[in-house]
Amino acid sequence: MSFPVTRMRRLRRTPAMRALVRETRLSPDRFIAPLFVRRGSGLREEIASLPGVHRLSPDEAVVEAQALRALGVPAVILFGIPERKDETGSEGWDDSAAVQETVRRLKAQVPDLLVVTDVCLDEYTSHGHCGVVRDEAVDNDATLPLLARIAISQARAGADVVAPSDMMDGRVGAIRRALDAEGFEEVAILAYSAKSASAFYGPFREAADSAPKFGDRRGYQMDPANRREAMREIALDIEEGADAVMVKPALAYLDVIAEARRRFDAPIAAYNVSGEYAMVKAAARNGWIDERRIVLEILTGILRAGADFVLTYHAREAAAWLREGSV
Ligand code: PBG
Repeated sequence: MSFPVTRMRRLRRTPAMRALVRETRLSPDRFIAPLFVRRGSGLREEIASLPGVHRLSPDEAVVEAQALRALGVPAVILFGIPERKDETGSEGWDDSAAVQETVRRLKAQVPDLLVVTDVCLDEYTSHGHCGVVRDEAVDNDATLPLLARIAISQARAGADVVAPSDMMDGRVGAIRRALDAEGFEEVAILAYSAKSASAFYGPFREAADSAPKFGDRRGYQMDPANRREAMREIALDIEEGADAVMVKPALAYLDVIAEARRRFDAPIAAYNVSGEYAMVKAAARNGWIDERRIVLEILTGILRAGADFVLTYHAREAAAWLREGSV
């Protein structure tokens, strides 16, 4: 029965009516907040290209995590800024490095916070690539044991979830086997499964000083044009033992999220990456957009597409806005 019997506007008439029929609910317990950590104490350096995001020393990361937890954000993901970069990225598996130290402190001081750690080499290598470089190319199989070492070191520090973001083939299986062999059967793997070679990572690379010194990442990260290939990547990671999978970036890839939701029953994460955040911040600073409404609309869109949870630099502010009940 169509108009005038059916009138779609009836269900939009009042805030109460709209609340009842709302299909997607934004809530801070669907956010993971990324934190950049480095050695030291009392450090809180703002990252120029990511206003509102800081490089934190472990003690300051605890303060930030407590604020997030108080706002209802259940989890953080840690990225390390090393003191020294080298060819193999050895600070990645140094038990006393910033990430490992921060994990220990978070587990001791914010015990109900879920701690996720990014497993990758690019922040730690002098050449900025996500693996062992041989003849100007990243050697897949030689990289796997190094990734496993990083994951084990993070698990030993107390990480709840390790999240490999390197895009080497077979890394989920290699990390799962290594964790199990060391008695870390309870540590979960959140795989960056469908990760594209994206220009949207620009501000992150400035934050972590991790831009590749030669070439680019197109030999291992995915071609942004490929949705079917993304499904193959996700299927392989689940087969290798991933507990949850990720699509990254989020906004130019909502169709990939939606297709993954239709095909797979595993939890799906989406990474609302640094470039997506930076564009919103820049436009907001210029007074061109209503930041609060834009952010909540973006996060709603990512969840509506089918993500179960979102990694987002907006986590703290968005959680505070949701608490105020501004939607
Ligand atoms: C790799 C990694 C990157 C991001 C997360 N993990 C950078 C890259 O692949 O170049 C990007 C996240 C963002 O842009 O917010 N360790």
